[in-house]
Amino acid sequence: MTTVPEQLFLLGNLAILLTYVVVTAVVVVWAVRRRGRLQDEADAHRATLQAVAEHTDDAIIGSDLDGVLTAWNRGAEQIFGWTADEVVGRHARILTDEAGAAEQRDMMRRIREGEKGVPYETRRFRKDGTPVEASFSVALVRDRFGQPIGFSAVVRDITALKEAAERQRAVEERTHQAQRMESLGKLAGGVAHDFNNILAIIVNYTDFAAEEAAGNDALTADLRHVRTAADRAINLTRQLLTFTRGDTIQPRDVDLSAALAEVHAMLGRTIGEHINLIMVPSAAPVTVHVDPGQLQQVVLNLAINARDAMPDGGTLVLEANTADLDGGELDMQPALPAGAYARLLVSDTGEGMTADVAAHIFEPFYTTKPRGQGTGLGLSTVYGIVAEAGGSINVYSEPGVGTTFRIYLPLVTASGDGAATLPRHDAPPAGDGRTILVVEDEPALARVVTRILTDGGYHVLTATGGRQALTLFHQHRCDALLTDVIMPEMSGRRLAELVHASEPALPVLYMSGYSNGLLGTTHVLDGDIAFIEKPFTAHDLLHKIAEVLPDLTRRYG
Ligand SMILES: Nc1ncnc2c1ncn2[C@@H]1O[C@H](COP(=O)(O)OP(=O)(O)OP(=O)(O)O)[C@@H](O)[C@H]1O
Ligand SMILES: [Mg+2]
Repeated sequence: MTTVPEQLFLLGNLAILLTYVVVTAVVVVWAVRRRGRLQDEADAHRATLQAVAEHTDDAIIGSDLDGVLTAWNRGAEQIFGWTADEVVGRHARILTDEAGAAEQRDMMRRIREGEKGVPYETRRFRKDGTPVEASFSVALVRDRFGQPIGFSAVVRDITALKEAAERQRAVEERTHQAQRMESLGKLAGGVAHDFNNILAIIVNYTDFAAEEAAGNDALTADLRHVRTAADRAINLTRQLLTFTRGDTIQPRDVDLSAALAEVHAMLGRTIGEHINLIMVPSAAPVTVHVDPGQLQQVVLNLAINARDAMPDGGTLVLEANTADLDGGELDMQPALPAGAYARLLVSDTGEGMTADVAAHIFEPFYTTKPRGQGTGLGLSTVYGIVAEAGGSINVYSEPGVGTTFRIYLPLVTASGDGAATLPRHDAPPAGDGRTILVVEDEPALARVVTRILTDGGYHVLTATGGRQALTLFHQHRCDALLTDVIMPEMSGRRLAELVHASEPALPVLYMSGYSNGLLGTTHVLDGDIAFIEKPFTAHDLLHKIAEVLPDLTRRYG
């Protein structure tokens, strides 16, 4: 039996124990609840983060350390055209070509070796093979013990940005060039003016002296030499003044083909046996308003340069026709507003020139010819005449292949049949999702062509050379091939042959900076081929491509 005090003591202990149990239970429940709440908050945060990553316009891509893709957000789907289901588990190599794969491997190695958040810009490819210019920021992903487990990449599509920057650069370059020509013009004009005065003095006093010297044969002969030299100097200053537009000119309405025929006849006698001279007149009259003597000077200067570029012989083609410009052409000097123009082409198969040389050819006194053989005034004179007449010049040249000069002059639209030669203005038929395989080694131009065709409703595959084109051709179904003619790896002609070996009916449209006349006469291209000349407008290209596609032509006609 326990005594009362003992019972009280036991009760007291029990109470303490109970209190302890209750307090502990409350604390535990509170702690568990709090932990649950924190867990919920962390989960919610993680979910938000996931949603943010999923819905950003940039691609967020994860891969393991070998480059096998593990994460692919919606931005990535939009930029690259692959869905997450299609790519997760495959190697990131599917986004690149061979050069890109090497760069990818190198980048992964550098980041694994400790380089932090490496940003770089590169070209990748969409599911359909079209290129995309992308800016990458790649980092190493670690687990919670700090061990590397893979890579994360944030990728932004900068194709449009790059295009805009390239265009901006071209516009600036052209403005800069125009300013340079203007200041050179002022300088040359000033020099020519002062020179003319000095020459007038020399010529006149030489004539006076010659009169005085009558009967003294030796002195007369000496003075004749002085006079000849002075005449040469007068010719030079005249050319300089033409460049600076200080010359008096008498413009008239002239038919370009007729003017070309006159120069052709003149050159036929003088240019030399080693040059195959070809003239391609326009079918209908092409009327321009220029000084006929100056027009002749333009063609002669271009033809003589062409001859000089072909010391071992070659082909020189003179062509007259019309062209439609959209006003956005950047490779013309000076810039021209949109419209229909008369066009004069002078093409040669000579040594061509590098981009560095081409950038200076219109400057007075710029010459690559040996001392005494060129004054460097030929093309600056051409430039002066053409600019004065409201026209513009485009040069296309490839070293070792040849050069084409295109002179654009405002068309005088005679009432009546002249209009028949003007380019069409009707809307070209839509592409209806047909696939065009575009082969062009100049990336900026490839992008322009892709843009035009995509906007026109076509699906576009692009290749930078013949071999890549053949791979794409065998992987995808194509409705037509649009290829550059002269490319380093394989000519457009050869590519078409290879493609036709497996699909003889595939329509082919060639594009080139050379005129069809030149390529035809030099047998780079021959027979009945579809051809479009660079530079072309969106309108030209869409019409031409529609013409080669069989059922579109029917709808077209
Ligand atoms: N058809 C061409 N093929 C290759 N290079 C050319 C061609 N036309 C011009 N050039 C280059 O442009 C330069 C400038 O030509 P330009 O006609 O102004 O002067 P030039 O021919 O050297 O001298 P000039 O005409 O005064 O006797 C040439 O020296 C040459 O380097
Ligand atoms: Mg010259």
